[in-house]
Amino acid sequence: LWGLKTNWLGKKVIHREMTSSTQILAHQAAKQNEGHGTIVVADEQTTGRGRMSRTWHSKKGSGMWLSMILKPELPPYLAPQLTLLTAVALADTISEISNTKPLIKWPNDILFSNQKKCAGILTELQAEQDKIQYVVIGIGLNVNQELSDWPDEIQERATSLSIETNKQWEIQSIMQHFLSEFEQTYDNYMVKGFSEIKKRWEAYGFKLGELITIQNLHETRRAIFSGIAEDGALLIKNEDGSLEKLYSGEIDWFNK
Ligand code: BTN
Repeated sequence: LWGLKTNWLGKKVIHREMTSSTQILAHQAAKQNEGHGTIVVADEQTTGRGRMSRTWHSKKGSGMWLSMILKPELPPYLAPQLTLLTAVALADTISEISNTKPLIKWPNDILFSNQKKCAGILTELQAEQDKIQYVVIGIGLNVNQELSDWPDEIQERATSLSIETNKQWEIQSIMQHFLSEFEQTYDNYMVKGFSEIKKRWEAYGFKLGELITIQNLHETRRAIFSGIAEDGALLIKNEDGSLEKLYSGEIDWFNK
């Protein structure tokens, strides 16, 4: 990437005009020993993937479709911290370049105040015998889409930087900004640990301090979203005042 001001991230770039998914390419590259900091970028993905086997719409030139190969010296159970760290670096990037105030919906969706999603993060971990072999972190940021680029059911909950700011953006410069931000955040985290990331994350936290609805097989209850835990879990405060950690996504953030 031309003009990239990073020390180690994106020093090697694998770029494709079109590919199935940058995640798939990144896994292949990592298995062939591609090193820490290599990034995979595509202008268009034919089968971009989201969390929970959802698809991620990745039309040509409409967004930042990026996967990063990382080889952190971390125990696998701390990998969720990397996802939260990525969300913080992405939220910082969006707010710095566009003067908007993004929110992070736990664990890692980026929303605007209209509650529409403009970015998602997909972390895929390859670990063996309690050691991380590598991690692929995929970032999808909607940049220049118009609402009509998405199917109806997605239009209701998706947005792009362009829709929110009424202008077109240069994807390459957003990527440069993000990669610098990510590298600094990552290096700082490796030296100082998670507490600063936690603070930064909570400053962006969607519904932090508010009532959320939790749905399990047998019950629906309400609790206050009170922060994130060291291991990346969601911390809630129950009606009886007890604190509890939640790990999975049975949360209705919109209190429907
Ligand atoms: C989500 O919110 O569900 C996560 C979406 C992640 C999408 C990105 S786009 C670049 C990378 N390649 C993929 O196939 N997925 C991720």
